[in-house]
Amino acid sequence: MATIAAAAVACAWPIVSHADSSVDIEAGRALFMQKGCYECHGIFGQGSVATGPALAPDPIPLPAMQIYVRNPGGQMPIFSEKILSNDEISLIHAYLASLPPSQPADSIALLNNGTPSAGASGSSSSVSRASNPTAHAKEAKNPNAP
Ligand code: HEC
Repeated sequence: MATIAAAAVACAWPIVSHADSSVDIEAGRALFMQKGCYECHGIFGQGSVATGPALAPDPIPLPAMQIYVRNPGGQMPIFSEKILSNDEISLIHAYLASLPPSQPADSIALLNNGTPSAGASGSSSSVSRASNPTAHAKEAKNPNAP
């Protein structure tokens, strides 16, 4: 929450100095959204199987990124210097480099303190009857049924 609040405050401030790295990161985040990188690479650069690879954490080195966006290899559109300057790429790079790695699944309490086996060991007869249409159909058509 503190991070979000800080980001919101940074967002409201004009970009005065590029020497302030938190300002760079915020400006880079804004560019990542404005230029549409997020649409294929995810808001946090996490990537998506369908649209584009992960760019964060641990993005490729800045010089390589500056070359890549001018000459992308496959599905990615070309971003010319008119559309995206090298300075803007360096801000985007600062944003991507600032993102922390995601937590391993076994460190996320909600994924581990739940009771995934509840019900699996208990009586499941009502569940299987409900999900088995044949069982109901047989009952309904039984002439001996009251
Ligand atoms: C339309 C979808 C799309 C958009 C928008 C897009 N990318 Fe990509 N990007 C891709 C795909 C797909 C790849 C994988 C290689 C390829 O097809 O070019 C890629 C690859 C990359 C790579 C190389 C990744 C690596 O680790 O080798 C970088 C860096 C990159 N994109 C940066 C950006 C930046 C920065 C922006 C915004 C200015 C951006 N991309 C916008 C789809 C996109």
